[in-house]
Amino acid sequence: MEDNQVLDRFEEMRELVNANLESIVEEQSAVFGEVAIVSGQIVLAGGKRIRPILVMLAYQLAGGDDLEEVIPLALSSEFIHSASLIHDDINDDSSTRRGQEAIHVKVGQAKAIIAGDWLFSQGFGLGARYDEEVVEVMAHYCSILASAEFSQIDHVLDLSTSPEDYLEIVRGKTAGPFAAGCKGAALVANASAENCEYLFEFGMELGIAFQLVDDLLDIRGDERMGKPRGSDIYEGKMTLPIIHALTILHGPQRVRLSEIIRNFEDSLFDELISLLNFGGSLNYSEILIRNHLERALSYLDHFEDCETKQLLKHVVKMVEKRHS
Ligand code: FPP
Ligand code: MG
Repeated sequence: MEDNQVLDRFEEMRELVNANLESIVEEQSAVFGEVAIVSGQIVLAGGKRIRPILVMLAYQLAGGDDLEEVIPLALSSEFIHSASLIHDDINDDSSTRRGQEAIHVKVGQAKAIIAGDWLFSQGFGLGARYDEEVVEVMAHYCSILASAEFSQIDHVLDLSTSPEDYLEIVRGKTAGPFAAGCKGAALVANASAENCEYLFEFGMELGIAFQLVDDLLDIRGDERMGKPRGSDIYEGKMTLPIIHALTILHGPQRVRLSEIIRNFEDSLFDELISLLNFGGSLNYSEILIRNHLERALSYLDHFEDCETKQLLKHVVKMVEKRHS
């Protein structure tokens, strides 16, 4: 397939996901009223749809030949992701999401919590129709996601957070759900145990890179992210560039970095970036991103060349180049 055909094919998949999400939200809004309408807004506000597309592609790479069979699982991953974003924005006190006002700003915290629960119920309804092994892998990684969020909260402004602590949080909050979606899809396709594991590891490596890019974009700032830059620093989140710089810098520079992190405001941005650059910390994150993406690609080597593999390689490239 030519590059432009890959792009077209990818766009078609995104449209397929969007059309399915729209029809579910419309149907459910007619039944459940405001809770579905409000919750539906976050689902339909856009987003890259990387999770459901990965589920569909992993299914096809694993030998599945009836895409309809895996679509509920793909949609389930997007509903659960959207649910977690509503709760995350409450916890992080973030006022924008996907370029729009966050749900808790629109309808208040109490209704927003319930909107998240409602989306989770939708995800549960779509995902629970599969075999026990599939449901188990999805539920297990949802539980790990919750546990990683607890750990992230415990590490807020904890300047002794290690790269290992960070990696464990990232594996739980972002990469685990990617990996579980890929493995769940491979199970639906009746793939061999080996191929299920390769796809699981592919999702894990891709997910780690995805979160590392996310954390880098938060520092570098890109208005296409749909949220203000520096949100992580304001929230006291210990992301890898910060953890790395705290390890590399010493003396007055480390003291200054600690002060900046503890009392962050926009006017300190340039100073923060120059300390991070001095420590080579942004560069270090970039190197790690490339390593994880290469590892992700290496898991695809176990599968024959085909159009689906090309599309998955395109997803890897998208993660590397993403701005939002
Ligand atoms: C975004 O991270 C948020 C997540 C990846 C997940 C949040 C999960 C929860 C609140 C727990 C939900 C639990 C279940 C079982 C569904 P971020 O804050 O680093 O990114 P952001 O900048 O996009 O907000
Ligand atoms: Mg957040």
